[in-house]
Amino acid sequence: RDVNLGLRGAGSRAASRVRGSRNSSASRVSAVDFQFGEILGEGSYSTVMRAVHRATGQEYAIKVLDKNHLKRNNKMPTAMAEKNALVRLGSGHPGVVRLNWAFHDDWSLYFVLDLAKNGEMQSRISRMGSLSTECTRYYAAQLVDALDYMHTKGVIHRDLKPENLLLDDAFRIKITDFGTGKLLDSGEEKAKTFVGTAQYVSPELLEACETTPSSDLWALGCIIYQMIAGRFAFQGLSEYLTWQKIKHLEYTFPEGFDEQAKDLVQKLLQRDPELRLGAGSPGSPNDMQALRSHPFFASINWKTLWKDPAPPLE
Ligand code: ADE
Repeated sequence: RDVNLGLRGAGSRAASRVRGSRNSSASRVSAVDFQFGEILGEGSYSTVMRAVHRATGQEYAIKVLDKNHLKRNNKMPTAMAEKNALVRLGSGHPGVVRLNWAFHDDWSLYFVLDLAKNGEMQSRISRMGSLSTECTRYYAAQLVDALDYMHTKGVIHRDLKPENLLLDDAFRIKITDFGTGKLLDSGEEKAKTFVGTAQYVSPELLEACETTPSSDLWALGCIIYQMIAGRFAFQGLSEYLTWQKIKHLEYTFPEGFDEQAKDLVQKLLQRDPELRLGAGSPGSPNDMQALRSHPFFASINWKTLWKDPAPPLE
């Protein structure tokens, strides 16, 4: 009695080969092909480990999910949603962690992801206190570009936060953790189920249990605020009080907060999801192009964004 995982077991003829040409001669990939190293991160249902692909010496981050634990907690659909989101995103964007292979054995599911060598953005912000306006601009622009791509592919992240923004060896952003991601079917515009981390949750999620791609724009506003201010935009003494502040749009900017960044954050932290900058359909005055054209991004060259060196983290 096996759940259809959309994954192929190590014993099956063709392990799922997510990326086209790679490994085309021997397409059966399994855990023995990798040498597992240190733990990079741990979640409730998964452990991410550094691993070396023995045949090529290439390093990866492998997310290992415990099947029994998933099944006991009815989280198998969540794991599948994550894999489906990653497959749908493919290798089409430098700002999204790429799924290189997925396979499973009797105990675990394995997602072989790009390794982001410089860890989580959250640790950077914590270590530095806050980021420079220049740095924030660069990372906000990369986020906008990656979100544009994800949303075009019909994937909503739904739990964007600095913990889910990884930094690669060139200190560029890679969005990870699509475990709470949602695939919109064509025609479908809203997804109904509750997810998210208190400080980044959008009002529509709290009030109507509804997410749209625009919920990721709300989170973007919260993240830009946090990078510059060094603290959450919305933070109460309890989760409930945090939610109250979000519902009432109760936040203030610290003194000295960059004026253009302030204007951008205000245009993203709109209670009405449709009014957020970037939320409009392509061609409308409120579309992603309008977001890219915001004065805060005036010095950003969108064409070379993923080639330009990251500003020094300060
Ligand atoms: N932690 C979680 N996912 C990771 C990844 N892909 N690379 C590095 N560290 C991680």
